[in-house]
Amino acid sequence: MIFDRVWLDANLCTMVPRDGDPLGAIEDGAIAAKDGRIAWVGRRADLPGQAAETRACDGAWILPGLIDCHTHLVFAGDRAREFEMRLEGASYEAIAKAGGGILSTVRATRDASEDALVNAALPRLDQLLAEGVTTIEVKSGYGLDLATEARMLRAARRLPGLRDVSLQTSLLAAHATPPDYAGRTADYARHVAEDIVPAIAAENLADAVDAFTDSAIGFTAEQTAWVFDAAQRAGLRTKLHADQLRDDGGAALAARYGALSADHIEYASPEGIAAMARAGTVGVLLPGAFYFIRETHFPDVAAMRAAGLRMALATDLNPGSCPAPSLLLMLNMGCTLFRLTVAEALAGVTTHAAAALGLADRGALAPGLRCDLALYGISRPAELCYWIGRNPCLGRVVAGR
Ligand code: NIG
Ligand code: FE
Repeated sequence: MIFDRVWLDANLCTMVPRDGDPLGAIEDGAIAAKDGRIAWVGRRADLPGQAAETRACDGAWILPGLIDCHTHLVFAGDRAREFEMRLEGASYEAIAKAGGGILSTVRATRDASEDALVNAALPRLDQLLAEGVTTIEVKSGYGLDLATEARMLRAARRLPGLRDVSLQTSLLAAHATPPDYAGRTADYARHVAEDIVPAIAAENLADAVDAFTDSAIGFTAEQTAWVFDAAQRAGLRTKLHADQLRDDGGAALAARYGALSADHIEYASPEGIAAMARAGTVGVLLPGAFYFIRETHFPDVAAMRAAGLRMALATDLNPGSCPAPSLLLMLNMGCTLFRLTVAEALAGVTTHAAAALGLADRGALAPGLRCDLALYGISRPAELCYWIGRNPCLGRVVAGR
């Protein structure tokens, strides 16, 4: 076989478990690409055929390109003033209830043009890509009206034309109650279900529909169900910000809708977690938000393991609860704060992150999958979780290039 390109003199972290090794590591390996897909993976000595082009990797480790499956990358402004208020004693929830928090970013985002949103997002995106990310998800949710939600999603959809990255978008119109609906959260949830979801779907601007279920500052389970019913009518999969600040039954709700993922889930009950596992809903852990809002209630990782729940890890990059454009930092925090193993953390940003986006064509090094790779100058995969604030990424390959 004639391959387009072959990478040699590399160690591979395939993320295809074998012989008791959850990382499926292959030392002195080779990987070959053809037509943007992985055509062959294995030990270099076994490499069949020839390649038009060969790349020597000097002993680098190659992983599947990292996937950040939960970001709010597109937004205007920042929340540094709110950060100061929290240092003076105000809580994340108290600031939100006083009309700050998400709503302060909504004001800034409504005032921003599509170009301004793209320009603000690009440097944050570049930081993620520099660490080896090749696929990201981007949510709306700082418009809370049809025009601005659509503008955020259009801005997100322009990013792959400007950078080498695959991108999935999620409509998060049910993120907070906008000022124009103050005190009328149910009315706004109906507006999202009846008007915003169908309009966004008709324009094909979103791959999924997300919501923030929270009985104090988000939407009730019932209101969330209206939005999810609308998503299903429009043929869109669902995701959910669930049980972040208290147990509102979000995990079970996500499971009931066969959601792609339920995210945060610090307060999800063992029953909710088991329901997710049965439904195939991925649990997305967001240790950066846990850290930044100084949450103290840990996600029940033991129950997740016992249930066989697939756990992903993501940045939740956003101005309010996690201003951290670093997925490598989340690997460290997932291990240090949530006690994930290195293998669990790495699966969380590869195979399980792909599942959280419903993408079956990536997340591992295996023949037939997209040839999205991240190369690292490290001596063992654990180094990716071990360093804090150090980026050993040497380069990325997106669709074989
Ligand atoms: O994922 N929980 C709700 N939404 C975001 C925070 C958004 C914000 O504070 O701007 C989150 O943590
Ligand atoms: Fe989020």
